Amino acid sequence: MSALRTEGYGQAPGKLILAGEHAVVFGHEAVAVAVDRRTEIWLRRVEGPRRLVADLRDARLNDALDVILPKEGVEVSIRTALPVGRGMGSSGALAVALLRARADLVGAPIDFAACHRDGFAIERVFHGTPSGLDHAVSARGGALRYRRGPDGAVELSPLPPPRWPLVVLDSGAAGDTGAMVAGVRSRRPAIDGALEAIGAVSAAVIAALQAGAGPEALGPLLNQNHALLQQIGVSTPELDALVTLARQAGAAGAKLAGAGGGGVVIAACADPAPVLAAAAAAGVSAWAAPVAPPCA
Ligand code: MEV
Repeated sequence: MSALRTEGYGQAPGKLILAGEHAVVFGHEAVAVAVDRRTEIWLRRVEGPRRLVADLRDARLNDALDVILPKEGVEVSIRTALPVGRGMGSSGALAVALLRARADLVGAPIDFAACHRDGFAIERVFHGTPSGLDHAVSARGGALRYRRGPDGAVELSPLPPPRWPLVVLDSGAAGDTGAMVAGVRSRRPAIDGALEAIGAVSAAVIAALQAGAGPEALGPLLNQNHALLQQIGVSTPELDALVTLARQAGAAGAKLAGAGGGGVVIAACADPAPVLAAAAAAGVSAWAAPVAPPCA
């Protein structure tokens, strides 16, 4: 590291997947949006062994820091509004914020391509075989169409984000993305048809966003995606109950978002208020999540 700067700072938003989780690991298209909840990281040069001050607990954190930081001479402070294991891209945001903080510390700006390439090594510590979707949308912001082919070549392009907030309902339980992805892999090839159908839902979501669709048009696609996620074995009774709660309260559609096995449900609602009220009455933490704008 250069001796020029003594401190570096980086931040990145979390994400929600509108369509295509799991299928994206196996070469199909997916659509994600960055959300307005962030991870911030400060790096400070210090004497002695690396120090970590973090408001999150994750046994893999030090291994992730080892990927790009020395074990000596730096203090790492992490503050995050993203709960771990809830499908909101906490590890992708951590990877991007960390790379940006190191770039700031060494005084060499990092572009999207380098951030996405180097982010894989950090994401692998958490997830084993990430598609790269999570840290791509975290680094780009806004809404993103993403596909990573079997040869590793990535196709991505920005999409017009929904102009209305998604409603997020939190199951309160954490899922393990690596374990969920391994489970899906073990059920192939029997579920390959469902994975392909998820890719087709993503294509329909892309077309809907490009046409400026509102919640009424997006909702049925979220419902289809959730049914397929049930088929590939990643939903839980708790997530299914939140999907039902949202739909019964007037959402046009809802699905689990992220790896499943826990985490959050997202709902497309013309009016978020009744869904938020139903969630509050059921003791479920829920909020309207605006999309984070694309990075400059
Ligand atoms: C996790 O947020 C999304 C998954 O599709 C895994 C990945 O894309 O790496 C389940």
